[in-house]
Amino acid sequence: MTTFLKRVGLGLVLVSQCLTAPTLAADSKDRIEQRIDQLLAQMTTREKVGQLALRDWGTFNSEDIPKVKQAIREGRIGGFLNVNFNKADDNAFEELQRIAVEESPRHIPLLFGQDVIHGYETIFPIPLGQAASWNPDLVRRGARVAAQEASADGIRWTFAPMIDIARDPRWGRIAESLGEDPYLTSALGAAMVEGFQGDDLSDPASIAACAKHFAGYGAAEGGRDYNSAYIPERTLRDIYLPPFKAAIDAGLASVMTTYSTLNDVPGTANPLLTRQILRDEWKFDGFVVSDWNSVMEMIPHGFARDAKQAAELAANAGVDMEMHTDTYDRYLPLLIEEGKFSQQQLDTAVANILRIKLRLGLWEHPYPRARTATAREKMIRTSDALAAAQQAAEETFVLLKNDQQLLPLNKNQTVAVIGPLAEVPHEQLGTWIYNGDKKYSHTLLPALRQLVGDNKVLYAPGLAYSRDKRRDGFAKAIATANKADVILYVGGEESILTGEGHSRGDIRLPGAQNALVAELAKTGKPLAMILMAGRPLQLDDTLQQASAVMMAWHPGTMAGPALADVLYGKTSPSGRLPLSWPVGAGQIPIYYNHMATGRPATDDNYTRIDDIKPGVFQHQPGNSSNLLDYGHKPLFPFGYGLTYSQFTYRDLQLSHKEMAMDGNLTVSATIANTGHVPATEVVQLYTRDLVGSTTRPVRELKGFQRVNLKPGESRRVSFTLRSGDLSFHNPAMQQVTEPGDFKVWIAPDAESGLEGAFILR
Ligand code: NOJ
Repeated sequence: MTTFLKRVGLGLVLVSQCLTAPTLAADSKDRIEQRIDQLLAQMTTREKVGQLALRDWGTFNSEDIPKVKQAIREGRIGGFLNVNFNKADDNAFEELQRIAVEESPRHIPLLFGQDVIHGYETIFPIPLGQAASWNPDLVRRGARVAAQEASADGIRWTFAPMIDIARDPRWGRIAESLGEDPYLTSALGAAMVEGFQGDDLSDPASIAACAKHFAGYGAAEGGRDYNSAYIPERTLRDIYLPPFKAAIDAGLASVMTTYSTLNDVPGTANPLLTRQILRDEWKFDGFVVSDWNSVMEMIPHGFARDAKQAAELAANAGVDMEMHTDTYDRYLPLLIEEGKFSQQQLDTAVANILRIKLRLGLWEHPYPRARTATAREKMIRTSDALAAAQQAAEETFVLLKNDQQLLPLNKNQTVAVIGPLAEVPHEQLGTWIYNGDKKYSHTLLPALRQLVGDNKVLYAPGLAYSRDKRRDGFAKAIATANKADVILYVGGEESILTGEGHSRGDIRLPGAQNALVAELAKTGKPLAMILMAGRPLQLDDTLQQASAVMMAWHPGTMAGPALADVLYGKTSPSGRLPLSWPVGAGQIPIYYNHMATGRPATDDNYTRIDDIKPGVFQHQPGNSSNLLDYGHKPLFPFGYGLTYSQFTYRDLQLSHKEMAMDGNLTVSATIANTGHVPATEVVQLYTRDLVGSTTRPVRELKGFQRVNLKPGESRRVSFTLRSGDLSFHNPAMQQVTEPGDFKVWIAPDAESGLEGAFILR
C-alpha cells in the first residue's frame, strides 16, 4: 500500500486520508469508550457520584475553601463554575485542577464551566443582535473568539448557546435568544456550537457548548421569568425543539435543563424531554446538566417534597450533572441502596460526563492555555478579536426607517449627540458579561470625533441613564441640538433591564425618553434615533418624530467604531429583524409563523378604533382576528431591515410545478441592487402548506442567503426545497410531509415578496 501511494503521488495520498478518516474517528470513539469502562471499573460509588457534582466556586467563602479542596482530593467534585469570581481565592484554576489531577483517587481532571454567552473579554453583540446578522459565519467566528479567550484562562465549557425560541419581548431573556424562528435559531445555534467546539473538541482552544434551556423556557407565561410554560407537544416538536436537534447534529457536548415547568412538569425532572426525546429519539451522547439550583427549586415548585426526592426525580429523569446544589452527593448512594436509582443508571450518567471530558482532551491539557500574564495578553482582546467584534456589531444593526435618506450622515454636518446611551461603556456591553470590562469599551463619542473631527460633534445627554425621569438636562440638550445640523439621539434600555430575571410589562422607552425626543423634534432639526436595547421597544410617537431609526441592540466592546462606520456610510446596515417588532406590549405574543385562523384579518376587513362610529351595529366594524387599536400586523415584520441602497425582486421561477415526495424543487429569483451604494440583501425563502391534518402556519422560513451587490448589480438567487423541509408533526405526533398545495415566496421579509405555488404529490 505504502509503495503504491508513493508511486502515484500526493493526489491519492489525500484521497486515502479522506477514506481512512472515519475509521480513525471510530477508533478514537472506541478508545474513549474503553477508557470510560476502565475508569468506571476502578471508581467507587462515591467517586462516581463525585463526577456528577458541579459546584459554584463563586459561592464559597474562605472558611469553605479547605473543605472544598478536600472534597476534590476525595474525588467528590467533577467540575466548577464561576472559578473567576471567588475573591477569597483568586485565579484558582491551576490549584484546583492540580489537586484533582495529582491528588484525587483516579486523577480525573475537573471541568471548568462559565457563562461565556457573547464573548469572554472581547464582548460581541448580545445574541439577539447576533441573530439579526442572519450570518452563521459571523456567529461561528464570534463563538470561536470567545472559546479562544475563555480557554486561555482554563474554562473549557460554556453555558451557551441559548436557543430558546422567544416570542415574548417582555421576557428579559429574549436578549440572550436568537429570536422567534426555529429555522434561523437552528442555523445560528448550530454555528455557535461549531464556533465554541471548533473542528476538534480536543484542541485546547476549543470549549464544550451547552444548549439551553431544555425545553420551552421561552414560553414562560406572561414573559415572567422562571414561569410555567404550556406548549402542546406538537408545537414543542415543530417550534421549540428543532434548534436543539440542530445543535446536537452539529456535535453538541451538553444540554442544560430549564427552571420552568413544561405542561406542569419541571424541566429538571421531565423524562419526556431528557430521556425519551434526547436519548431514545435523538441518541444524544453528551451529558445533561441541571440549571443552577434547579434541582432544589423543585421543592418550591411543589413537585418534590424534599431534597432527597428532588435528587431522585432529577437523576431518574436523566439529569447527569447537578449544578450548584449537592443533593446527588447527599442522597444518590442512599437512593441506590434503597433501589430507587440503580448502579447502572449512575454508570450511564458518569459515562456521559467522562465522554465529554475525554473528548475535550482534559487529561492531555488540564491547565489553562495561558499560564503567564504575558502569554495571556497575547490571547485576550487581540486585534483580530476586536476586528471580529466590530464587524459583528456592524452586521447586527437593523435600519428600521430612513426618511429622505437621512442616514448615512454627512461629514460636513455638525451633529448633536443626545440621549442617555450615547456614551455608555458599561451599557453597550449588554447582559451576561461576566468577564467583559467597561474599561476596554470603545464608545461612540471618541469614534465619531475621530471620524469627523471634534468640532463637528456636540454632546449633551439630556438624561443620565435610560430610566432617568428628571428633565433638568433637557434645556442643555435642546440648546445643543439647536446648534447642530442634525440630531443623533441614542436611547433605549440599559443592559440591566434585560437578561435573567429582568422582564418588563411595559416595553416603552423607559424614563423621560419619549418626552426628550418630543422636545428634540420640536427644534425642527432632522433627528436620527439609535436604539440600544435587549428587546424590541414600543416606539410610540418617537417613530414619527425621528426621520431615521436604527436598532443597535447592545453591540459590545466595539459599539462606538461600529456605529460610527455605519452612521457615516462606510458600510451599509445589513441586519434584519430576528423577530416581529410589536406595536406595543398588548400585541404580544406576535410572531410571523402563527397558525391560520378562520377569520384572518386583512388591511380592510376591520375598522380601526378611532373610526368606529358611536352606537353602530355590533358587526359593523368587522369581525376578524385583529386588535382594534394595534391592528393585525407587527410594527415591523420578522426579516425586515433597510439598507442605504434599494433592492428589487423579479422573475420568480420554480423548476417544476409539481414536486415528488422523493424529489426536490428549485426556487429562484433575480435580486438587483437598484440604489447607489454597495449593500447586502438578506434574501429569504418562505413556504405555506395550504391544507394539512392540523392547521398550518401562514408562512415558514425555509432558507436565507446574504447577498452582497454593488450598485446596478443583480444576481440570480436560488434555493432547493426537499419534501423533508416541509414536514411537521401530525396529531399522532408523527413527523410527516403531507401532499397538497403549497405557496412559496422569495422575499425581503415575512410579509412581502414574490409569490409562487407548487403541488407536492
Ligand atoms: C442560571 C441561568 O438560567 C443559566 O442560563 C446559567 O447558565 C446558569 N444560571 C449558570 O450561571
